[in-house]
Amino acid sequence: MSERLEEIAARMMTAGKGLLAADESTATIKKRFDTIGLESTETSRRDYRQMLFSAEEAMRDFISGVILYEETLFQKASDGRPLAEIIVAAGAVPGIKVDTGAKPMALFPGETVTEGLDGLRDRLTKYHAAGARFAKWRAALPVSDTLPSFGAIKANAHALARYAALCQEAGIVPIVEPEVLMDGVPGNHSIKRSEEVTEETLRITFEELADQRVSLEGMILKPSMVIDGKKARKASVQEVAERTLRVLKRTVPAAVPGIAFLSGGQTTEEATAHLSAMNAMGPLPWTLTFSYGRALQTEALEAWGGRPENIAAGKRAFSHRAKMCSLAARGQWKKDMEKAA
Ligand code: 13P
Repeated sequence: MSERLEEIAARMMTAGKGLLAADESTATIKKRFDTIGLESTETSRRDYRQMLFSAEEAMRDFISGVILYEETLFQKASDGRPLAEIIVAAGAVPGIKVDTGAKPMALFPGETVTEGLDGLRDRLTKYHAAGARFAKWRAALPVSDTLPSFGAIKANAHALARYAALCQEAGIVPIVEPEVLMDGVPGNHSIKRSEEVTEETLRITFEELADQRVSLEGMILKPSMVIDGKKARKASVQEVAERTLRVLKRTVPAAVPGIAFLSGGQTTEEATAHLSAMNAMGPLPWTLTFSYGRALQTEALEAWGGRPENIAAGKRAFSHRAKMCSLAARGQWKKDMEKAA
């Protein structure tokens, strides 16, 4: 019998563990590989992800689930084993990004609506058969004095809710990700503006989830933190943590089992410090952990550099960062632990 949604969500939210977002689209992973001067091919993408998923310490002790891009879900490791099987063998849950991207929204200049609902029911059946037990859909909301508009928040929240309903029908836990961008255009907004926008976005998102009969117990929220724009960064760790928790407590029902943040362009250390500060302010009604892409991978990518002889160094860098994030998920990370490992 299929595992229940609540059981999958509970495994994803195992105490002290979090999610690795390794679901960069082909265009995005190319940008990441460009930073180390590596050509993005099907094989180099496979080699890189195989390195991450076979980093024993990270995967066994600190990572409860991995978000994959479709190509990776159906890809095999160099020894012929499916990459998804390596993730399962390490004790983590494989997941899949199912949206087809944020597209310009008609009549809403500067805003996007995330697409991918057409044909999603059939794709989910295929992904479930390949081992995926959770999925992700990301909406992207730029911030300015006037954006995001109510219309864009509403359209994106509605699509998130329709996606979440289809996932639950298929026995897949939906990660609902309404990202309020910190590095969008113009990117100079205050933390107060971020708080306002994040609160409205989450409020509308949970209204739409209720309208579409989505079970809160069988989903995970992946929000951005309340933080000032990348070009105007000045808020302290404490302020980011306090404002983020205030908004989450106002808007996220306690029935939601877990909240797993995206890093959104924060440095690895900022993302770790913020998560730790929030968990140190507990107890909280939900598990609060990480679902980082860049904040988990940047150091591993650099240490690897695309060279087979650096695979062990890449795994070590990934394990170290995953360990720091795990400490943050327990509210126990301190800056001086960064050097110790
Ligand atoms: P970042 O942590 O790099 O923002 O990526 C997480 C993610 O999955 C964004 O959709």
